[in-house]
Amino acid sequence: MRRAKITIVGAGNVGATTAHWCAADELGDIVLLDIPQTEGMPAGKALDLAEAAPIMGFDAKILGTTSYADTAGSDVVVITAGIPRKPGMSRDDLLSTNAKIVGSVAEQIKQSSPNAVVIVVSNPLDAMVQRALQVTGFPPNRVLGQAGVLDTARYRTFLAMELGVSVEDVSALLLGGHGDTMVPLPSCTSVGGIPVTQLIPAARLEEIVQRTRDGGAEIVGLLKTGSAYYAPAAATAQMVEAIVRDKKRLLPCAAYCDKEYGVGGYYVGVPVVLGTGGVERIIELKLEPTEQAAFQKSVDAVKGLVATMNKLVG
Ligand code: NAI
Ligand code: 2OP
Repeated sequence: MRRAKITIVGAGNVGATTAHWCAADELGDIVLLDIPQTEGMPAGKALDLAEAAPIMGFDAKILGTTSYADTAGSDVVVITAGIPRKPGMSRDDLLSTNAKIVGSVAEQIKQSSPNAVVIVVSNPLDAMVQRALQVTGFPPNRVLGQAGVLDTARYRTFLAMELGVSVEDVSALLLGGHGDTMVPLPSCTSVGGIPVTQLIPAARLEEIVQRTRDGGAEIVGLLKTGSAYYAPAAATAQMVEAIVRDKKRLLPCAAYCDKEYGVGGYYVGVPVVLGTGGVERIIELKLEPTEQAAFQKSVDAVKGLVATMNKLVG
């Protein structure tokens, strides 16, 4: 059987770590691509990872390159190309630089892998995924963004720490934009089937939600030289797995919503069913009035970001 071909554009921290998780899980053959100025870097990382295969026991072809010719016919393309956030920078500060980078990457993908499902990771996420859609012209179900899986994983981690239970028993769902405007849904959060509201007082739960909103900045503040990559890469690999194994996972992803939730043609974090076709279905939840208001705030923030980006890229 033909193995899936997974291209990861940007061989930096998130890209290389995504390659690592994908290879270890035997999700397919991997091409790790970066810009020509990086010279041997992607090839070096790819070879190093390939040499781990006999120890870790995985079979995958892993190639590092600076040429899109090597990526031709990919089934999934992950875009992590761009600059990461440094201390004091907001995700939005990245807007101008990364819109140009993601636009040029999307143009190349359109030519080399016209049937791929594209997962955007570069920040500011909700605008970058819109940029990838604009430039590729792919059907919206084949262009999506990674944010909600990471934000929800952070939330589950903090809830498990608070309660002293296994992360495996914490189930949660967050909607909306990445980080600052995410929308917690207490009605969709439970621990071993018990509603979280029965286990954690409302004020403490709000503190945990706020820590989750600030989750990216907390890591940036500690690392000082860049942003998080282990959990973002694990989140991305989970999405790749859902696509290449056609798992029909129900995951929170940045998906193109038009009539859905009344968004009107923007990317926003919503629960989707993820399979070979990319976003195969968007699940519409009935939101409480406070959740609806928070969701709308998130959508408005995305619209503002996209409007600024459109002015910048012309
Ligand atoms: P990094 O600096 O370690 O790696 C970025 C790589 O992109 C570099 O190797 C750079 O040479 C490459 N690159 C730049 N322009 C390129 C181009 N035109 N074509 C191909 N490669 C290009 O950064 P890191 O930590 O890997 O983060 C990457 C992006 O992901 C950042 O924008 C960051 O903010 C974002 N991010 C998003 C998350 C999310 O949840 N959506 C989570 C973590 C990071
Ligand atoms: C994060 O949330 C920087 O978006 C990245 O860690």
